[in-house]
Amino acid sequence: MTIERTLSIIKPDATRRDLTGRINARFEEAGLKIVAQKRLRLTLEQAKAFYAVHAERAFYEDLCSYMCSGPIVVQVLEGENAIAQNREIMGATNPANADAGTIRAEFGESVEANSVHGSDASDTAVQEIAFFFSQIEIIP
Ligand code: CDP
Ligand code: MG
Repeated sequence: MTIERTLSIIKPDATRRDLTGRINARFEEAGLKIVAQKRLRLTLEQAKAFYAVHAERAFYEDLCSYMCSGPIVVQVLEGENAIAQNREIMGATNPANADAGTIRAEFGESVEANSVHGSDASDTAVQEIAFFFSQIEIIP
């Protein structure tokens, strides 16, 4: 049994439609605890830094301006195999390919505006959590 933490972001398309509560219910029903959470609006500079790993991709500029287009909710989820489990709850990147019942299948609008972000591995989870939260903001 491995208790992990992962970074989750509720993206601007979802905050715009007031889906924060419904998305959070998915995490909690699956046994993932929301141990830190805040709502904020990214600057373009912050979005570019967060997604720096995608800097060479064709969608990078669009993605970064989309991520600044409205409020986001950043959160730390904690639970057994939280990283992989959250990826499962989220569904595939493109909502059109996401399994029925996943957050992206139910709420995603497009491959870009796909409602949620989740860390993809333990090293990126550590990095991404530290991008948004200090230790004293994470309360298990
Ligand atoms: O978010 P996920 O890890 O599933 O996918 P990613 O490949 O790491 O891409 C990061 C984000 O870029 C996605 O969640 C989409 O919002 C966006 N994206 C896009 O706009 N167009 C693509 N063809 C692929 C990803
Ligand atoms: Mg990713």
